[in-house]
Amino acid sequence: MSPAIGQVRPRRLRVNAAIRAMVAETSFEARQLILPVFVGEALTEPRPITSMPGVVQHTLDSLRKVAAQAAEAGLAGIMLFGIPERKDATGSGALDPNGILNVAIAAARSEVGDATLVMSDVCLDEFTDHGHCGVLTASGVVDNDATVEIYAQMAVLHAEAGAHLVAPSGMMDGQVGAVRAALDSAHRTDVAIMAYGAKYASAFYGPFREAVSSSLQGNRMTYQQDPANVREALREVALDVVEGADLIMVKPALGYLDVLAAVRAAVDVPVAAYNVSGEYAMVEAAAANGWINREAAITETLTSIRRAGADVILSYWALEVATA
Ligand code: PBG
Repeated sequence: MSPAIGQVRPRRLRVNAAIRAMVAETSFEARQLILPVFVGEALTEPRPITSMPGVVQHTLDSLRKVAAQAAEAGLAGIMLFGIPERKDATGSGALDPNGILNVAIAAARSEVGDATLVMSDVCLDEFTDHGHCGVLTASGVVDNDATVEIYAQMAVLHAEAGAHLVAPSGMMDGQVGAVRAALDSAHRTDVAIMAYGAKYASAFYGPFREAVSSSLQGNRMTYQQDPANVREALREVALDVVEGADLIMVKPALGYLDVLAAVRAAVDVPVAAYNVSGEYAMVEAAAANGWINREAAITETLTSIRRAGADVILSYWALEVATA
C-alpha cells in the first residue's frame, strides 16, 4: 500500500550534498565542452573584447597556449574563428592558404596533435567588408549557391591546415552536402562536419560581432531562422543529417532549450548547443555588478543546456569550468 500523501517526502533525496550528488540526473564534463577561440591577424598581443570580459582576440602565440591548455584540461576541442586584418566584398581572406584562419588552424593542430579537437568556423562574415555570411549578387542579396561553393573550398583548406572538424555556420541551403562532397573528393573522408542545423537570427550574438570586428549593416533574417519557429528547425536539421552532418548544433542555447530537446528527440547523431556571446555577457555583466552569483549562474546555465538534451556544449566558460 502506498503511504499517505503527507508521508511522501521527496526532500529525503535532498538532505545533504552526497545524496543530491547520487541522484543528480545531469552533469557536464570537460570532454563534452568546446571552447570558441578568436584569433586576430597581425596582433602583437591579445586584444580584450570589451563586451565579453575575460575573452580576447588571440595572437598566434597565445592561441598555441590556449590550445595546449584545452588539451591539458581534457576539453573536447576548440572552435576557431579568424579575424583578418583586411576585409573585402568577397571575403577573399577566407580562401587564402596564408589567411589568418588557415594559419591559426595549422598552429593549433601542430600544438595539440590529436589531444583535443581542432575545429573551424566555415563562414564568410568575419572576412567580408559588408559583414554578411556570404557573397552578394549585383542587387545586394546573399548569393546562396556562389557562397556554398566558397564554403566548400574553405572546408578543404581547413582540412589541409589540420582541422579535425569543420562547422559551416552560414545557414545557406545545401551547405552541408557541398562541404561533405568537397571534403570527400579531396580524400578527406576523415574530417567531420558539425552542422549549425538550427541557427536563429538572434540578438544574443551582439558581443560576438565585436569579437570578430564585424562590419554588418542590417541583419541576417534572410538566412538565419526566425526565433518564432521550431518546426522549421526540425526541417533544417533533417536536411543537414541527410546531407551528411556528423553532429547537429542548436544556437543560441538558452532561449532555445525547447528546440534543443526537440532536435535531440528527432535525430540519432550527437547534438551540440552553442552558449553564445550574449548569454555569456549577460551573466558576466550581472556578476560584475554584484547582481548574480557568477559561478552558480555558470553551473546552472551549462547544466540546463545539458538537461535539455545537448551532448556537447560550446561555451566561453569551457576552459574555466574544466579547470575549476
Ligand atoms: C557566424 C557566427 C556567429 C556566431 C558564431 N558563428 C555570428 C552570427 O551568425 O551573426 C555567434 C557566436 C556567439 O554569439 O557567441 N560566423
